[in-house]
Amino acid sequence: MRARITTLPGDGIGPEVTAEAVRVLQAVAAIHGYRFEFEEHAIGGVAIKQFGSPLPRATLDACLTSDAVLLGAVGSPEYDRVPPNQRPEAGLLLLRSALGGYANLRPAISFSSIAACSPLRTEIAYGADVLIVRELLGGLYFGQPRGNDSTTALNTMRYSVEEIERVARVAFEAARKRRGKVTSVDKANVLETSQLWRQTVTRVSQHYPDVTLEHLYVDACAMHLITNPRRFDVLLTENLFGDILSDEAAVITGSLGMLASASIGGEVGLYEPVHGSAPDITGTGTANPCGAIASAAMMLRHSFHLEQDASDIELAIEHVLEAGYRTPDIAKGTGGYVITTGEFGEVICEAVTEIADMRHAYHAV
Ligand code: NAD
Ligand code: IPM
Ligand code: MN
Repeated sequence: MRARITTLPGDGIGPEVTAEAVRVLQAVAAIHGYRFEFEEHAIGGVAIKQFGSPLPRATLDACLTSDAVLLGAVGSPEYDRVPPNQRPEAGLLLLRSALGGYANLRPAISFSSIAACSPLRTEIAYGADVLIVRELLGGLYFGQPRGNDSTTALNTMRYSVEEIERVARVAFEAARKRRGKVTSVDKANVLETSQLWRQTVTRVSQHYPDVTLEHLYVDACAMHLITNPRRFDVLLTENLFGDILSDEAAVITGSLGMLASASIGGEVGLYEPVHGSAPDITGTGTANPCGAIASAAMMLRHSFHLEQDASDIELAIEHVLEAGYRTPDIAKGTGGYVITTGEFGEVICEAVTEIADMRHAYHAV
């Protein structure tokens, strides 16, 4: 197994969490004799500083010619007053559209060992396991026309049947491998795009008679998600609703630092934690690397079809949490010991190695 992986650490805590995800991928490669070649490039604020663009040509070319892309985070308060197309975030949006991954998978799982750090009562969060399938290349993020002439500003929400169908199929396929339920989230009581969304998803569902489909309005969904998260299996929604609901879903897990994502369906898969650059904790060694590490696991699963290695990493995260290791964001009320971002990466590597060794020993018997 050989793979060329472009890493884009980006801004704020991006480099801190990406380093740990790379460390874990290197551990997996060492265990199994894979050859992962990493090539680092600039994106976001650091790329603006160095190259005058949030997505320099060399970065884009490297991503397009690699087997998978691992991104940390982009964004910095110093660009807060800059127009959208000159901000660090514009680099990420351009990259997403260039790579073509239209389905953004964002799992939110309640781990029993840290359930107490969720502000939700334990009996509410306990056992929740939601997969948000967020449409990533359409809606208000990319719709034209858009603009701001200082007296009026305009964004366009636009969806075609094809854009809805392709992401819906991803959601139904995923549900088939899980608990067989898709909740499609829209605002069909107000928006035309949502009416088309609902009709189209309903039509696609006819090809998946083994999967149950329900529709929810986004406002009600936001409420159900934190009052009864266990009612959800796969949650399918458009770009902006998915952005908002996935941060909300972090509450189930206890911290935004826990959430991973995979953008699939394009030529090259893009893997990034759901959280941002977290300027408030940058450089303190307190960033939770689980989201980035779990994104690396999703890379193994979706880009390289290494299902076993992906689940070994996910199991390692669970074991390390069960053993009591914590970053501060998941420490409150859970007992355990607070360690740094780097130490957390190290214990995950140790756990991954132990898990793989144990499996080999078992097979050898
Ligand atoms: P954020 O996700 O960076 O942070 C929100 C809160 O969560 C902060 O209190 C932060 O400390 C905490 N947090 C986030 N990740 C954490 C981690 N791994 N471990 C521990 N705590 C963590 O959101 P924000 O503050 O609204 O945005 C900051 C910048 O990041 C903005 O410029 C925004 O545009 C950008 N952003 C980028 C991405 C991305 O690159 N994919 C995602 C979201 C936000
Ligand atoms: C995310 C982020 C991005 C988004 C920003 C940084 C462009 O919030 O990945 O959730 O809105 O998609
Ligand atoms: Mn977001």
